[in-house]
Amino acid sequence: MQKNIAFSEKALELQAIARKIADEVVRPGAAHADKHSEYNMKAARAVADAGLFRAWIPEAYGGLDAGVLALALVAEELAKADSGFGVAYAVNALGSFPILLGGTDEQKQKWMPKIAAGETFVAFCLSEKFAGSDASGLGVRAVRDGDHYVINGEKKWTTNGGVADVYSVFAVTDPSSKSRRISAFIVEKGTPGFTIEKVEDKMGIRGVPVVETHFKDVRVPVENLIGGREGMGFKHAMMTLDHARPGVAAQAVGASQGALDLANAYANRRVQFKVPISQHQMVQQMLADMAMKTEAARQLTYASAAAIDAEGPSPANSKMAAMAKCFASDVAMEVATDAVQVFGGYGFMEDYPIAKFFRDAKILQIYEGTNQIQRIVIARHLIRESNDLEHLQEFIPTEEQQSYNAPSMNPEG
Ligand code: CAA
Repeated sequence: MQKNIAFSEKALELQAIARKIADEVVRPGAAHADKHSEYNMKAARAVADAGLFRAWIPEAYGGLDAGVLALALVAEELAKADSGFGVAYAVNALGSFPILLGGTDEQKQKWMPKIAAGETFVAFCLSEKFAGSDASGLGVRAVRDGDHYVINGEKKWTTNGGVADVYSVFAVTDPSSKSRRISAFIVEKGTPGFTIEKVEDKMGIRGVPVVETHFKDVRVPVENLIGGREGMGFKHAMMTLDHARPGVAAQAVGASQGALDLANAYANRRVQFKVPISQHQMVQQMLADMAMKTEAARQLTYASAAAIDAEGPSPANSKMAAMAKCFASDVAMEVATDAVQVFGGYGFMEDYPIAKFFRDAKILQIYEGTNQIQRIVIARHLIRESNDLEHLQEFIPTEEQQSYNAPSMNPEG
């Protein structure tokens, strides 16, 4: 596991740029984007012009090679101002990782420079109506027909759908296979038969579209099969999620910090019982807990991002990514809930942004793998790691000792 978190100059520079854009363009547009379910294209253009979409992309493909840690630092700053915009940014990493991690060099040369420049937005089409947590149970089919694949079926909850120009689409190519059922394809907006059918009306992150994508006899050239080999889709999806989950954790840290800052500012202004409510110990306790949890989430998030940058995909880093995503998003929900509590009646009203932080936080516990799935991922790794605990065997009851009232193993006991 990566012990030290090394922040590169480049990553810190990108963080500072993101903070400026968040203050100048994202936060001022957040309420409008939320109220009208409108994508903040002005902010997206500012992010593109400043080179922030280059953060996680290698230099060979037009990026800055600043890694997942830079992606996390940028996502945190943007989400601090508007959680919806945080995901509008980070989902481009989610959509591009299948190409970056699994694609051929030709595919990377073709797509990544445009994604890096922010000329091409990306989306990730994995989930379906009947296949959410069970990502291997997909129903969308892709059938080879000469030098094309023909895709049929429907995808659900495609974040960035409609705004995105290209889509990483996961489809079944071999229904008879268990481990090699799925392949991933790059599908371009405007391909005949590929349509956006339903723009979801959501509780939060209303500034970024989440849609159904439908495929009716959509023909994509074989060159768009990611990696050029069938059956690699599930692995690519899992590797993608391992790389993207620190970014979700970072959105959660940003959301927590944004809510905490508002609650802190309000607690110092709001006077009750003749003193600012920040002088009341029960409010102090809430603020202190919010700050502790946010900082703990931040450190875990940075550590998980730095580990992936330093070591690449590994079981340990998959576990770290799941821990960061799960912990940070649970914290975001708790902190947003307490922030509303600090605001009291004002917190419940849509007149102030704190209510939006509360609504936006919920999805962080759901998307890119529910927090129940994260705990399953973590537990599966723990169970595997238990094989390395041989040296502790003498300190735990044997099966025989478990079966009868054996003498104490502790000589002092
Ligand atoms: N990296 C590489 N390979 C992996 C892997 C990983 N992290 N995890 C599993 N695999 C491989 C396994 O080694 C195995 O390979 P073999 O068949 O060669 O042995 C194969 O994948 C199957 O693994 P499992 O048996 O563990 O698979 P499973 O069916 O039990 O599922 C799961 C595992 C972790 C529950 C997985 O289904 C999962 O992550 N589900 C959640 C899906 C998810 O996060 N969806 C969110 C979509 S994105 C989104 O939210 C929308 C948005 O736009 C923001």
